[in-house]
Amino acid sequence: MGTGGQRHLLLVTACLVACCAGVCGLSSQVADALSFTVQPGSLKPINTTDSGVQRAVKAATYEYNNRSNDEFIFRASEVDEAEVQVVKGVKYFLEVKISRTVCHKRDHPDLDNCDFQPDGRLKQTFRCHFEVWVIPWQHWIKTTALLCH
Ligand SMILES: *[C@@H]1O[C@H](CO)[C@@H](O)[C@H](O)[C@H]1NC(C)=O
Ligand SMILES: *[C@@H]1O[C@H](CO)[C@@H](O)[C@H](O)[C@H]1NC(C)=O
Repeated sequence: MGTGGQRHLLLVTACLVACCAGVCGLSSQVADALSFTVQPGSLKPINTTDSGVQRAVKAATYEYNNRSNDEFIFRASEVDEAEVQVVKGVKYFLEVKISRTVCHKRDHPDLDNCDFQPDGRLKQTFRCHFEVWVIPWQHWIKTTALLCH
């Protein structure tokens, strides 16, 4: 077995360990990406509806809201593109549109119930590039890039 095979085995072992610990947070698509990785580190497209993608989008948007001075909360209105890279866990590369909602930050709203602003002065959408690094077996998630315009 060459080094590629050993690396493959390591990844599979890491995944099994994570699953045994009951923190199997990887979606099936990411698991597929892991098990077919010949060269760890290459970017692979992933379905934007994937649950891991959705979680990463939420984490990055939360970070955006935390850093913005806006009175209102933004949330994702569209996920245009998603890729994953295996790097001690999984790194998500996301192209996302976020739009201003009607929910005020100070009310600490439940985001899922926040409608977007209707047509008018406050309606606004930004295009964002997000990078979110997730280490599922350590319950660790961090937004490593956040560029919106
Ligand atoms: C993404 O997943 C959804 C639902 O799981 C499916 O309907 C859609 O065809 C998939 N898109 C691609 C590009 O695979
Ligand atoms: C962002 O998060 C930090 C730490 O969690 C908190 O102290 C700060 O008040 C937050 N800022 C905004 C604008 O929400």
